[in-house]
Amino acid sequence: MKIKSAEFVVSNSKVEQCPNSALPEYAFIGRSNVGKSSLINMLTDRKSLAKTSAKPGKTQLINHFLINKNWHLVDLPGYGYAQVSKSTKKVFQKFITAYFEKRTQMVCAFVLIDSRHAPQKIDMEFMQWLGEHNVPFCIIFTKADKLKPKVLEKNIHNYQAEMLEIWTQMPEFFITSASTGTGKDEVLDYIEAINQQ
Ligand code: GTP
Ligand code: MG
Repeated sequence: MKIKSAEFVVSNSKVEQCPNSALPEYAFIGRSNVGKSSLINMLTDRKSLAKTSAKPGKTQLINHFLINKNWHLVDLPGYGYAQVSKSTKKVFQKFITAYFEKRTQMVCAFVLIDSRHAPQKIDMEFMQWLGEHNVPFCIIFTKADKLKPKVLEKNIHNYQAEMLEIWTQMPEFFITSASTGTGKDEVLDYIEAINQQ
């Protein structure tokens, strides 16, 4: 898919205030600092459409972007960031879960996982929650440029093995780098294929 236009629409903390539109939407979710906003910029060829930061906790709202005038891309706040106060963390969790429970236009969630790390409990629990709530999701392994190809391959292999202890099959997954553009065409073509169904 070619990105012809990418526009910021609105940010808010309430799912009820998200755009009143039936366009299909795709949400990017994962731990703080995993690279959600950077990936969105990479996919859309825009340097700073979504705000990024080396400091975790940058994205704090539900951000809608209109792509090619016919689908929405959604940048969500990260979960599991220990540095924010417990009560703030709870607010994130509440509106993130409310988003997935109520937003029927959401056709696929992309759960971002840092390719450098072994499976983390919080990500496993989050995917379990998505499964229990019948939310379709894929996995995106991020920051692939930070690893040597052999190590990357081993990490993905280990991740799959651990997923298969819980799930009967591995969800669709992609390997990406916001720095080099790896995985861009694969993710965009996947979205395009769903949009054309
Ligand atoms: P929050 O909004 O805080 O939850 O974070 P986020 O998941 O949106 O992460 P963000 O895109 O802001 O990136 C976090 C940090 O990781 C930034 O310093 C990015 O430059 C860096 N980063 C993100 N993706 C990549 C990547 O693919 N490769 C490399 N080398 N760095 C990356
Ligand atoms: Mg962000």
